[in-house]
This record gives sequence, structure tokens and C-alpha cells, in this order.
Amino acid sequence: MQTIKYTFIGPIRQALTMARLPQKGALKDEQLHVIQEAGILIKNEEIYEIGPYWDLYPEAQSIGAEMVNLKGDFVALPGFIDCHTHICFGGSRSKDYAMRNAGVSYLEIAKAGGGIWDTVTQTRKASLEKLAQLTVKRANRHLKDGITTIEVKSGYGLSVEDELKMLRAIKLANENTTADLIPTCLAAHIPPKDFQGTLRDYLKKIAEEVFSILKEEGLANRIDAFIEDTAFAPEDINSYFQKAKEIGFDITVHADQFHTGGSQVAVDFDAISADHLEASGDKEIELLANSDTISVALPGASMGLGVAYTPARKLLDAGASLAIASDWNPGSAPMGDLLMQASVLGTFEKLSNAEVLAGITCRAAAALNLADRGTLEIGKLADLIFFPTDDYREITYQQGKLKPSIVYKNGRLV
Ligand code: NIG
Ligand code: FE
Repeated sequence: MQTIKYTFIGPIRQALTMARLPQKGALKDEQLHVIQEAGILIKNEEIYEIGPYWDLYPEAQSIGAEMVNLKGDFVALPGFIDCHTHICFGGSRSKDYAMRNAGVSYLEIAKAGGGIWDTVTQTRKASLEKLAQLTVKRANRHLKDGITTIEVKSGYGLSVEDELKMLRAIKLANENTTADLIPTCLAAHIPPKDFQGTLRDYLKKIAEEVFSILKEEGLANRIDAFIEDTAFAPEDINSYFQKAKEIGFDITVHADQFHTGGSQVAVDFDAISADHLEASGDKEIELLANSDTISVALPGASMGLGVAYTPARKLLDAGASLAIASDWNPGSAPMGDLLMQASVLGTFEKLSNAEVLAGITCRAAAALNLADRGTLEIGKLADLIFFPTDDYREITYQQGKLKPSIVYKNGRLV
């Protein structure tokens, strides 16, 4: 039997609960639910009570809660959620980065056989244990920055065995970090050069030989595909996504990064999210805004490639739901600093604090179909982060340099 442990944290200058916000559309800071001089009472791994500190104090004392008295001013938020990363990989692509800065484009490097394929070669060479170790290291760096839930994609294996190796490595990494890793199968990342057969033969093989193992071993509940000129065309992916949906996987799409077409696929398959969208125009924005598919901006990929940002303002004004993720990967987004990237996206796209912070908390939770986190509310996981400041606006204002100094995951101090 599990023993019950209560912890009472406070007083917290401002607790931003991120609760009570609409899931879709533009947000104003006035809509943020802020509790001044707050207390959070944790029962084991969940939030048991949240409210004004002195209102909860007598209860906390009477049940014998461990009292965590905060010294100084803090702003509390739900643990950040990075809903799109590729942190399981071998090698580095610093060579590509230098080439891009010398004028060769990402797509040109890909067409010449480098880019993602280079990382596939490095990742195939690495052992499962080595990949798990590298993933844990990157996840722990994120956790230190307050990111308590991290989506992690495969997609650098591109064969039955190597995709399974990656997803087993992500599972092993999840057992060895305090952060929660949410795996996604991205076997449809780019066409594998060494596969004997057509693209459709490859996807058929993955669907037949990988999908059932993902379910049996609990390796992933989500299927992703990169729809792009150098990757997969909408016609290639239809029956693959159809099968994935029949088995009950959530669909997510790398869409409209350089050319449009992916967002239509995402909406047609009722995907949980369409990510990238740097190339989306008015037609795609309208399409996404009128769907339940969450738009995910990846400012780290714009910074890594030196290209325009996702039209986040237009998406929100049209009524879309917008999450923001780091896309941390060795090619297009090597930085991996979610808060910095989300804050800077806010500067360029004129986003409110509420829109930026919702994009990396409650709206990111929805993009991963996780109902148990993303807000500070009774019954949610006690994933809590505390910034040493007295005003929540300092967080985006300092553009990522102000980091949380206290992080709790599942009710435990990290
Ligand atoms: O989301 N666009 C495709 N995939 C990744 C990049 C992966 C890589 O360059 O290694 C992305 O940007
Ligand atoms: Fe990506």
C-alpha cells in the first residue's frame, strides 16, 4: 500500500494556473487566472488543493503536510510541455549548419544526400543503450529548464529494425529520467535510400511489421509523417495514415514547412496536430482554424534555418489553437531552448504572455492528448515550476534567460 504524503508549498507571489482558458483562438493577459499569495497542497503526485496560501494553511497543518516555505518572490506555473522534439539521435550536423550559413539551403543539402540522411547513418551506428543515454542527457537538460513533459520522435532509423531500436531506446530513456517522454513513430520522415522498392512498399512494410509491435510493447501511440517535396507526398501517405487510424493511433503531421499540402492532410485525417506551418498561407490558416487540429509553431526551426516564423498571430486571430514546441533536432533546430524560442516568437509575432505561455502548457498538453497536466488544478499532476520573480511578465520579457529555480515533477522536487 502506498503511504500518503502531503506537501504544502508557499506562499507563492503569483500562481498562474493556466486554467479556464479557451482551447482555441487569441488570448489576452487579462484572461489569465492568477492567484496572488498562493499555496499549493500536493498529495503524492497530484495537486490536492490550490488557492490563497492562508486559506489552505490550516488544512495543510492539520493533515501533517510537509511545509515548504518559499523564501523570496516566486511565480509558479505548470511544468512546461515540449510537444515536438527529435532528441533521440546520434552524431551532429554542425557541418550542415556551416554549409547553410554559406548559402546552401536545407532542401539542397537533403537533395544532395545529406541532412536527415546523415543523422540516419549516425543513429543506425549507435547502440540502443547509447541512444537512450543521449536522450536522457538531453531530456535532463530540458527538465532543468522546467520542461517536465517531452515528446520524442523516432525517424532516424527508417527501417523496421532501426525504427524499433529508436523507440525502444526512447522507452529505456523514459525509465531513466524524471521527465515524462511521450514517444511518436516518425518512420515516414524521409524515404530510406537503401530500401528496395517503392515508397508505398516501404510504408506498407512499416504499417504491417511495426504498428502491431508498437502496441504490444507500448512503444508509441502516435504516428507522424513529413509531407514535403523531399519527403512524402499526400498520395503516398493516405493508406498509411488510414491503417494507423484504424488501429487507434493519434495522427500528427510535419506540415507546410517549405511547401503547402501537409495541413490539408492533417485536417483530412483529423490529426491531433499539424506542426511547422512556416509556409502556410491564408487558405491553410483558414483550414486549420476551422478544424480541431492544433497548430504547432516551431520557432527553433526558423532560427536554425534562418527562415520566416510560423504565422502564429494570423492563426490565433483566425481562431486556431496554437502550441509552441522546440523541434530540438540535430539539423533544423539544434538549440533546444523552448522558453527562449517561444518568447522570441512572441516578439516577432506579437503574441500576448497568455498566448506564449498557453502554447507551452495547456495547449501543448492538448496537442499530446494529455488531460492530466498543463494547468495547475485539483487532480492534475503536480508538475510545478517556480521562477524567481514577482511578476509573471518577467518570464517572456527576459526572453528565456530567466529560468525556473525550482522544479517539481509528479509532486517531487527535481
Ligand atoms: O521537424 N522537417 C523535418 N524534420 C525535422 C528536422 C530533422 C532534421 O533536420 O534532422 C524538423 O525540422
Ligand atoms: Fe520536427
